[in-house]
Amino acid sequence: MYSEVFEDLPPAPAPFSAGEFKARQKRFTSGLSTETLVLIPSPEERVHSNDVHYRYRTSSDLLYLTGWEDPDATAYAVHRNGSWSWGLFVQPKDTLMEIWEGRRPGMEGAQSSGVVDIAHNALDRTSVLEPLLDSCKVVMLRRGIDSALDALVDAHVLGRSRARQRHGTGPISIEDPSERLAELRLRKSAAEIEWMRHASNISARAHVAAMRLPHHGLNERHLQAVIEGAFVYGGANGWAYPSIVGCGENATILHYTVNNATCEHGDVVLIDAGAEVHGYASDITRSWPIGGRFSDAQREIYDIVLAAQEAAIAECIVGRPSDGPHTAARRVLAEGLISLGVIDQTLEEALDMEHGQLLQWYMHGTGHWLGLDVHDVGVYSPGGKARPFEQGMVITVEPGLYFGAWRPDVTCPERYANIGIRIEDDVLITDEGPVVLTSDCPKTIEDIEAIMGS
Ligand code: GLY
Ligand code: MN
Ligand code: MN
Repeated sequence: MYSEVFEDLPPAPAPFSAGEFKARQKRFTSGLSTETLVLIPSPEERVHSNDVHYRYRTSSDLLYLTGWEDPDATAYAVHRNGSWSWGLFVQPKDTLMEIWEGRRPGMEGAQSSGVVDIAHNALDRTSVLEPLLDSCKVVMLRRGIDSALDALVDAHVLGRSRARQRHGTGPISIEDPSERLAELRLRKSAAEIEWMRHASNISARAHVAAMRLPHHGLNERHLQAVIEGAFVYGGANGWAYPSIVGCGENATILHYTVNNATCEHGDVVLIDAGAEVHGYASDITRSWPIGGRFSDAQREIYDIVLAAQEAAIAECIVGRPSDGPHTAARRVLAEGLISLGVIDQTLEEALDMEHGQLLQWYMHGTGHWLGLDVHDVGVYSPGGKARPFEQGMVITVEPGLYFGAWRPDVTCPERYANIGIRIEDDVLITDEGPVVLTSDCPKTIEDIEAIMGS
């Protein structure tokens, strides 16, 4: 079933090299006080029920700096003999655990990866870190991820602040590395872009597989199953965020995830689903009619959203403000709704952020940074002013219009009742202009109808 859709999938890129991680680590410590101890924790495994755990996903910061995906890992950096040294605590090899749960790279694997200078047994974390905590001045740690590590650091900072007067050593402050890491993660390297393109390629084909499914007797869950199956078939770990599959009025609920209603002929289905590959997210939305043919009313709305998306993508230019896509999309959406008679205000009035009627039908932003997190890190407006786009940033562009006839707060135009259309692509900012990473996913009415008819 999937083989046809995936036959032209470009091959997966080469795995990240040790040099890639070393370069990231070096950028991270550049300019850092040499009296800093950096700690990069991972979240604990979460119990689903009894002895079954949720699928483990480590912290994006740890992935970024080491690529290590297994639980119980902590990375650290300390300045020794004139340079920064990186260490990694990992689960040790354990034959019994490996018989039950799978092979472990262990310290040997971590050491031979070349990504860190030294690997330790995770069980030795406290005894290895204690002397490092005693001799540093600043601990750099994002709190709230690993409570045992937070407690260890707290105990040292508190204890040492009393003893510092006598011994003259020990940590005196805790700093959050998040902003420093976010600035790095915001600008993707060539290798990261290759993996993001691969995640996009897989996700695009998954949407096509859903479009090709016979529409008779469809439940939203069938579409979800086909899409998520395609992610895995294509080589992804699974989804990057819970899939949104809404038919009819459910298409007007922005983050609908129940995905269990019957699709009626003529409904619009809105599918917002993307794969995670090597930790990197893809984020695609397509909206199309069950039955395969857009009605005139659906077409009118679709044309406006697509025009808004194209205008927004055209703003994804190096040096231009990163809120430009939102401004452009809002303008085209408002103009379109005025021309359809849905909005009875002037353009300026319609765009007003308090009283403008556009907010009734378009109530979200036009995009977000994308990377290891689907809603990726990076300040949008430092000091209150939208930052300019730079080469290597990746942003989603996802305008929509939502006419929920079920809503008590507005009077929905009857012609457009329960039409929800969002069109979302992932855009890489380059010196040569915007590059749509998800361009393999069809989005014109002609292309979508052709696929559904095939
Ligand atoms: N998939 C969630 C979003 O588009 O932001
Ligand atoms: Mn998105
Ligand atoms: Mn999305």
